[in-house]
Order: sequence, then C-alpha cells, then structure tokens
Amino acid sequence: MLDKKVAELLNVQINKEFYSAYLYLHFSNYYEEQGLKGFANWYNVQAQEERDHALLMITYMQNNGAKITFESIEKPQAVLSNNMDPLKAGLEHECYVTSLINTIYEAAYNVKDFRTMQFLDWFVKEQGEEETNAGDLIKKMELFGSDPKSLYMLDQELAGRVYTAPSLVL
Ligand code: FEO
Repeated sequence: MLDKKVAELLNVQINKEFYSAYLYLHFSNYYEEQGLKGFANWYNVQAQEERDHALLMITYMQNNGAKITFESIEKPQAVLSNNMDPLKAGLEHECYVTSLINTIYEAAYNVKDFRTMQFLDWFVKEQGEEETNAGDLIKKMELFGSDPKSLYMLDQELAGRVYTAPSLVL
C-alpha cells in the first residue's frame, strides 16, 4: 500500500496530467485555426504524451493497491492572441508541473517510499526534457516567427513530430 499523502498527491497529479493534455489540445486547436498545422501537430503529440503520463500514474496506483478518484478536469485557462502565447504558456506550465512532481518526490522521500521515488525518476527526467523542448520552441519562434518564409519552414519542421509510446514500462 502507498502512503496516504503520496497516494493523494499522485491522484491529484493524474488530474493535472489530463489537464495538461487538455491545455495542449487547446494550443493545437489555436494553431490549427491559424493554419499552422505543424505547430498544431506538435501540440497534438504533446497532448498524447500527457495522457500517457496520466495512464502511467493510474497503472502505478492500481499496481500498488491505491484507490483512485477521478475529478473534473479544469477548463484551459490560457488566453491565446498570438503565435508566441501558447509557447510561453507551455513553458510556464511545464515548470509548474516540474514543481508538482518534485513535491510528490519529496513526500515519497519523507516516508522512505523508494518504490515511488524510482517510479518518479522517469518523470523527473521527462520534465527536464519537456522544459528544454518548450524553451527551444520559444527561441525558434523569436528567431524565425516574424518572417513568413521562416515561419513556414519552422511549421514544416514541427509537422514531422511523431507520437511514440513512453519508454517507461510498468
Ligand atoms: Fe506530464 Fe508535460 O508533463
């Protein structure tokens, strides 16, 4: 059985990961409306990854006999009025998620829950990658976003992102 506090935090995190997927679908839809299908694809793949994060946590909790409660998923809050807005909101959101993962890790550490710490190690690494990816997108938009031809090329690049299942197997 998982520690009560650790299980509570993981249960909340399931909701946060589904919210992340919802937020990224919001971003994807914004870019679809702008005709930037590569950006839309990039965030659509990101949304799939976030759903995977939630599913991994569900499986982990089930495998450890923890009760799961599914709560309502919040409406995406980000107001999007230009092509940079989703990218900046995305980085801010990933930094927030990193802080949430760290809080769960700390709770597991405090009760010597080494199994959960090992499970979360994958997420700690994943958050590092996601912050880097989000920051890189901002840099690219700063460099190329104001020139239509460059923006087109960047959109083509992002169209090439394909979904791959998570490397973590439970
Ligand atoms: Fe599941 Fe982007 O963190």
